[in-house]
Amino acid sequence: MAKQDKKEKPTLVAEPPKAFEPMRAARMLPSFGHLLGSIEPAAYKVPSMMSMVEKRVLFNLARKHYSGEGVIIDAGIFLGGSTVCFGEGIRANAHARAIKRAWDKPVIAFEKAIIGNRMPEFFDRNNVTGMGAPGESFADALRENIAAVADLVDLRIGDIMETARGVDHPVEILFLDVLKLPDISKFMIRQFFTRLIPGVSIVVHQDYFYELLPYIMTDQEFFRDYFTFIGEACSTALFLCTKAIPLEAIEQLEAGLSADEQERLVSIALQRSTDPARRFMVALAKTRLINQLQGEDAAYDYLCHVRREFPEQATSPLPRLRQALQAVEKLCAGGR
Ligand SMILES: C[S@@+](CC[C@H](N)C(=O)[O-])C[C@H]1O[C@@H](n2cnc3c(N)ncnc32)[C@H](O)[C@@H]1O
Repeated sequence: MAKQDKKEKPTLVAEPPKAFEPMRAARMLPSFGHLLGSIEPAAYKVPSMMSMVEKRVLFNLARKHYSGEGVIIDAGIFLGGSTVCFGEGIRANAHARAIKRAWDKPVIAFEKAIIGNRMPEFFDRNNVTGMGAPGESFADALRENIAAVADLVDLRIGDIMETARGVDHPVEILFLDVLKLPDISKFMIRQFFTRLIPGVSIVVHQDYFYELLPYIMTDQEFFRDYFTFIGEACSTALFLCTKAIPLEAIEQLEAGLSADEQERLVSIALQRSTDPARRFMVALAKTRLINQLQGEDAAYDYLCHVRREFPEQATSPLPRLRQALQAVEKLCAGGR
């Protein structure tokens, strides 16, 4: 008895987090909680614009969700961070052999590989050296970064609107960090949404909770009857495809959405996250959309509403939130 009394009591309460970091917390529906599992060091060694938790999600998608029923589309890979997560995830997958038998290259990765104006800043911050100047190719560095998983990857260098044409496999994971223009978003939907497998395929939008690209929300939410929102990590949102998407639905989107419909769809996006900071980002995206559709006065009125509805976020000292708000305030300045 005396011995037992000396034993350390188990800790029943988790350590409180040191600081609450808006946009950082990841949440998944309980049945997808395994996507937040740990990650192997080999999978996160490539410098990336994604956070560690987003990398964990990609690694675990390939390790624990991916069955090989379709391919993984890895679109907008920059230096190859997502590709290495998927490749190493497949290697650690219990069905790796069967996957390799089904697909010679289960990951199809797309990247233009041209240094953009803001990339040198990223290279400096992350000690990435020998990369050249804007306008030059970084394809060689990319190939080197993903060499360890090259046997699993069909790497397509060039404009995705050319290099993805003709890819007609079923798609099990559709990772999208390339939707930088509305036309690319529409192109990717036409190319891949009819190839999603109901009950299996997951679309991963890396730029969903991001204030600059509201069409990503309207395009995705247009198909809300075909998906269930399953989770969020940083700016990433994940959607499980639940129903086959017919070509006619895609043609309806391509025919164009009314202004009212676009605003309604962003309002649906606004309710997805449980994190008020992410909802704030969507509200700022909606302000930008209103500015495009109705002009500065209407956008300014909506911005006043956003400030009232998100009092903590609108006065937050966090650079990410402050800068996003300031940029929208500038946009609406004429409405004041
Ligand atoms: C935000 S970065 C991706 C970041 C990356 N996922 C990571 O983890 O670091 C977007 C990438 O998409 C690429 N990209 C943009 N437009 C493209 C296009 N039309 N075709 C192919 N790649 C494109 C850019 O070169 C850039 O590397």
